Amino acid sequence: MPYRFPVSAALLAAALTACQPATQHTPVADAGANPIARGEYLVRTAGCNDCHTAGYIESQGEMDTAQWLTGSPMGYHGPWGTTYASNLRLRLQEMDEAQWLEYSAHLRTRPIMPDFSLRAMTAEDRRAIYRFVRSLGPAGVAAPAALPPGQTPPAPYFGLVLPPEAPTGPAAAAVPAN
Ligand code: HEC
Repeated sequence: MPYRFPVSAALLAAALTACQPATQHTPVADAGANPIARGEYLVRTAGCNDCHTAGYIESQGEMDTAQWLTGSPMGYHGPWGTTYASNLRLRLQEMDEAQWLEYSAHLRTRPIMPDFSLRAMTAEDRRAIYRFVRSLGPAGVAAPAALPPGQTPPAPYFGLVLPPEAPTGPAAAAVPAN
């Protein structure tokens, strides 16, 4: 079942950014000419750092690329358990480019990773992300392991609380509708 997120990290970022002066970053549209620069642009604008870089939102996106994508101890807690945005600097070291292209084209994770966004990217853009992340080299430590559903994670974490399931079946049908 797909989950909806009324409050996303991106929304939080937007709220925190509202009264800050904007910083200009030059868009890099041509992936073929400079895939590493294109990868940096995609990571910046597709919001990967919002979750995969601890402190990125708080810094208004003004963190040195040396710290990017090193994972985060922020938990995302909901009916799926608790997940942590992986250290992509370490994870991508485990794959060569061909493996990454295959993996990212079919990526299926638990929430709240927008795996559908990565799957919707062109191979050229996913290659650019790979080359950029690999150009940064390995750094940091692995993010905490995911926790199973029903277990309260240690702080810090975001929590998603859903309303109770609406009753279904004969008992529900017997309840008069208002
Ligand atoms: C809203 C938060 C969020 C955003 C935005 C986000 N991720 Fe994630 N990502 C996660 C979480 C949480 C996980 C761990 C999911 C799990 O444990 O199943 C994850 C997992 C992944 C994985 C799987 C890592 C592994 O260990 O195999 C990849 C690859 C990935 N993200 C890449 C990206 C890229 C590239 C972007 C930007 C286009 C991005 N993510 C944006 C939260 C996010």
